[in-house]
Amino acid sequence: MKDLFSELVAYVSALGLTFGSPAYAPAPPQEPQARPAAALARLGEDGRRPLSYLEAQRTIPVEPGAALRFPRGFMWGVAVSGTQVEGNDHHSSWAAWERMGRTREPKGLATASWERYEEDLALAARTGATAFRMSVEWSRVEPRPGEFDHAALARYASVVATARRLGIEPVVTLYHFAYPAWLEGGWENVAAPAAFARYVETVAAAFRGKVRYWITINEPNLEPGLGYLVGVFPPGRMSPLAFARATESILRAHVAAYDELHRADPGALVSTNVFRMVRRQGQETVTWLPAMEPGEVMMDRLAAWVDAPGARPRRTLDYVAFDYYYAFTLPEFFQLADYWRWPVHPPGIYDAARYYHDRYRLPVLVAENGMAEQRRQVRPDGWTREAFLVNHVYELQRAAAEGVPVLGYFYWSLMDNYEWGSYTPTFGLYRVDRDDPLLRRKPTQAADVYRRMARDNGIPGDLLDRYLYRRS
Ligand code: BGC
Repeated sequence: MKDLFSELVAYVSALGLTFGSPAYAPAPPQEPQARPAAALARLGEDGRRPLSYLEAQRTIPVEPGAALRFPRGFMWGVAVSGTQVEGNDHHSSWAAWERMGRTREPKGLATASWERYEEDLALAARTGATAFRMSVEWSRVEPRPGEFDHAALARYASVVATARRLGIEPVVTLYHFAYPAWLEGGWENVAAPAAFARYVETVAAAFRGKVRYWITINEPNLEPGLGYLVGVFPPGRMSPLAFARATESILRAHVAAYDELHRADPGALVSTNVFRMVRRQGQETVTWLPAMEPGEVMMDRLAAWVDAPGARPRRTLDYVAFDYYYAFTLPEFFQLADYWRWPVHPPGIYDAARYYHDRYRLPVLVAENGMAEQRRQVRPDGWTREAFLVNHVYELQRAAAEGVPVLGYFYWSLMDNYEWGSYTPTFGLYRVDRDDPLLRRKPTQAADVYRRMARDNGIPGDLLDRYLYRRS
């Protein structure tokens, strides 16, 4: 196993070279006085060390029954993506992938959310959510090259309007793992960034003044690996060269989308959500590869984008969105294929929030954080979704209490949905059973915990007492 790992390290480090040397220079260490004195007192000598569980428990004084609160306006979000919930989409790379027999299960109707979005938004409102992350699907809006489906755009506009009516802030992802089937080769196609920019221009014009928070491309650091290196996502390529091309093309597509969104609305707030890939050493999270982490290199490039050789670097991120699910030890790396065995490590969300803010001096947003079971069975490690939520929100609150501007927290996912080829991993605050022909959304205890936290804009004391650092 050791050999396999070192080979993997060498291989991926070599690939990292294709990113070029980042022009980005990290921000200088923060002046100690910039942090509240109370926060400093809670930190280790170097002012940066993440606290251990036990230390953390002592850091934010919790009176019995007291609630810790986030700043006003904090977004309590739930997240979904088009391909995973809409159902009946026929023009996307994933629809083609399924037709090729590459998925374990057919998707069918997913959660039928193309039609049932009003019901879903009402469920989101019932969890106390004040924000909803959704995606607009490129293949719905542009089913054939250059041909835009205005009815599809109108349906997405109606989702946004319904959310607003319920007091829910829409956060819109423009690309979530699925490209239109007509885009041959996906991101490896040299025409992809320009094609994406044209689609974004259309969406941005249709949504002008209606959407403030945008995410351009979901997890730009995962898709090249999954689709172009290990070939488990469309287009199923397994080539280091394809991986390098897709990476580059995704970065360019982000920048083009960033510019289009700002052209349409100078007040737009735009980011991409990087997948936070970290290992764990004791209680500390460390980069998963010894020398570097390709996703962080990508973010460095976007934070100081160079349009042409010699041009002045410019920032193409207005905030930093990140997805955090787990931190693994080396042996645990080999169990990541079972989503219900992803190693839960709540302090990792604190580390990520601190890391991105300290590095880029931008507000941060947790665009995804969630826990899966295997079709609703009890997890082997005993973690429940209620405990998972409380511990992660607590850790995020610790970062906020230290002065990290945290815009919001989005739980993945509002309800059980299509997990890229299979319905086996279940993440939802609402349960959806596949054998129920009505695909009823059933509330779980976790939805209730979420609702209580959202209502209090923090964790009610009794939930802390009950769940903090407990495994069940
Ligand atoms: C993706 C989601 C996915 C979730 C859980 C993220 O990588 O953005 O689409 O469902 O993780 O696997």
